[in-house]
Amino acid sequence: MRNLSLNAPVLTIDGPSGAGKGTVSRLVAKTLGWHYLDSGSIYRSLAIAVQKKMIDLADVKAIVSVAEAMVLEFECGDELIVTLNGEDITHQLGLEATGSIASQVAVLPEVRQVLLQKQKDFRQLPGLVADGRDMGTVVFPDAENKVFLTASAEKRAERRYKQLIEKEIDANLARITSEIEARDRRDMDRETAPLAMAKEALYIDSSDMPITAVIEEVLNLIR
Ligand code: DC
Repeated sequence: MRNLSLNAPVLTIDGPSGAGKGTVSRLVAKTLGWHYLDSGSIYRSLAIAVQKKMIDLADVKAIVSVAEAMVLEFECGDELIVTLNGEDITHQLGLEATGSIASQVAVLPEVRQVLLQKQKDFRQLPGLVADGRDMGTVVFPDAENKVFLTASAEKRAERRYKQLIEKEIDANLARITSEIEARDRRDMDRETAPLAMAKEALYIDSSDMPITAVIEEVLNLIR
């Protein structure tokens, strides 16, 4: 069974936060009828588990044991529903604080090692669309199709700002821009599995592209 799954085709979509990877990956997976891995949600779930247990971010041993013990379930419909040790944590996943802590625990090589197999297990027939930072470089280096999706920090901050305002959440564009830049730096500068473009990846800058055009370009790559 595992051998069969290892043959499943994989499309990796890596890039910085806010480039539109989630929307593109979900829609491409739906169009192809493939499975979808939102690897960021695994790091975000760990961040929530660490917060719930009030673990100090300097306590690497405790963070690693939480990562090892974590039981996650994903239900991928119109919205991704995630349960952590039986509790629905979907609504906490998208919080800025969760993303920031996720990026801090993701720096730890021991944590990345523990979470590696959990991500590889998503490779199932008929195929997988995997979204993250190191999908094409570390988790699925043998993927047939790889995309690196990015956009300028200003454009990504503007999109995030609009989303928050639409949800009637108070937001400050300058602060969002500097948070995005700080997260980019942490994700790109870490030693283990940093955010990087795989050599053979198709580079897409979505700064001035509608999402429909990005999806079309990705689907053309597969076809
Ligand atoms: O994609 P996201 O914003 O949900 O990811 C949250 C954090 O998780 C991101 O800032 C860094 C980390 N992450 C990672 O290190 N490797 C991945 N493949 C996905 C996410």
